Amino acid sequence: MFHITVSESYEELSNEAFKVMKEVLDGDHSPVLGLATGSSPVGLYKNMIKDHIENGTSYKDIITFNLDEYIGLPRSHKESYWAFMHEHLFDHIDIPAENIHIPFGNGEDPEADCAAYEEELSKYTIDLQVLGVGTDGHIAFDEPGSSFDSVTRVTTLNERTRRDNSRFFDGDIDKVPKQAVTMGLANIIKARKIIMIATGENKADAVKGMLEGEMSPDCPASILQSHPEVYVFLDEAAASKLSR
Ligand code: GLP
Repeated sequence: MFHITVSESYEELSNEAFKVMKEVLDGDHSPVLGLATGSSPVGLYKNMIKDHIENGTSYKDIITFNLDEYIGLPRSHKESYWAFMHEHLFDHIDIPAENIHIPFGNGEDPEADCAAYEEELSKYTIDLQVLGVGTDGHIAFDEPGSSFDSVTRVTTLNERTRRDNSRFFDGDIDKVPKQAVTMGLANIIKARKIIMIATGENKADAVKGMLEGEMSPDCPASILQSHPEVYVFLDEAAASKLSR
């Protein structure tokens, strides 16, 4: 079940998304948050930091799980998702380091690291999962063709995804890793609530596929059609191909 909000600006959309987050943060238990990287959730994370500073919202008892990580980038690399999350959120709130889970993509045995992540994840239920969508309809790094039953694993990135993400790597696709560790679609869909953020015309096809297309692994984000509570935040450009 989708609750769709179309906003005029990224700032407004990020404020709207934060309202859903805030309700979960202020709920009757310390939540487990599923977090995403990418430009889409940055405004939401800014609001979380602002709320922490201004209202004292504490993350001391909050557990987080990130969706994915590149394989082969050390955590110190500025484009690793570990670095991204610290820069845009974790360094600015009071979350203890041991409460943060980010897949490890730079080990000698990525398969074993995936199994360990899956094992840890299985001990929790994610209360709120934050998501963005790729132009090819991927969520996390679950590219088209990913099974709806997939769990944490090593995956190969599509050329289109690598081209999209090359903007973070000096525009050079050759610098973008070819593989990643990602939570699977079966992990993501288990979250109690989901926030999906998408902006810009280049997301319009993926957004249409996600909300109005056939539910199929060809558009991994379409799995969200089977979820009971998805809050979708779009700008007008991302919503421009929707028929409803
Ligand atoms: C990346 C990430 C996804 C993210 C997507 C969109 O490849 N693995 O988790 O949602 O791309 O990114 P952006 O928000 O920058 O458009």
